[in-house]
Amino acid sequence: MANGFTRERAWTLLNEWTASQSLVKHALGVEACTRSYGVREAARLSLEGAEAAELIELYAIAGLLHDFDYDRHPSLTEHPFVGVAFLREQGWPEVILHAILAHADYSGTPRESHLDKALFACDELSGFLTACALVKPSKSIHDVEVAGVKKKMKDKAFARAVKREDITGGAELLGLTVEEHVGNCLKAMQERAEELGLAGNSESVERG
Ligand SMILES: [Fe+2]
Ligand SMILES: [Fe+2]
Repeated sequence: MANGFTRERAWTLLNEWTASQSLVKHALGVEACTRSYGVREAARLSLEGAEAAELIELYAIAGLLHDFDYDRHPSLTEHPFVGVAFLREQGWPEVILHAILAHADYSGTPRESHLDKALFACDELSGFLTACALVKPSKSIHDVEVAGVKKKMKDKAFARAVKREDITGGAELLGLTVEEHVGNCLKAMQERAEELGLAGNSESVERG
């Protein structure tokens, strides 16, 4: 991004604040999904070149940073408010800050922009898709299918911490069916399976 608030800088910041590697993986998973909605939005707006790249980067950064303060400040009174205050002081774009605030139900910040909606819609779903991959014998997200995800959504005992209504509500906010939303995020995460640690572990399967 022209003003120096880049994905690279967000990545550095995330790692400075986050010791938990599973939280870093969560950030990367959500980033993969929000970024894919940035690509869609750029196409819908007929943006090209640098303009498209800039919009897509906003979506990626929002995904990457939405929980960056959570390791240090997990309480409902601090997350994501402490992080957003820090980002505001540094001068990160307001659209990103708004989306980060709006991802938390209790923040009182309404989901207005497409980015606000996309971030909310991707947050729980990306965790759910990770859980779906990890129960596969291969532990590979490449073996996860939309129909299987929908089935698992009905299984209340599976990944019970993931709020199903946030996934369905998120799809609705984006004007998509649950199948479409799951399909979009699944594809986005499959494309970055290696980085997310979800490419499968054939070695350990072979070793039994
Ligand atoms: Fe959060
Ligand atoms: Fe999150």
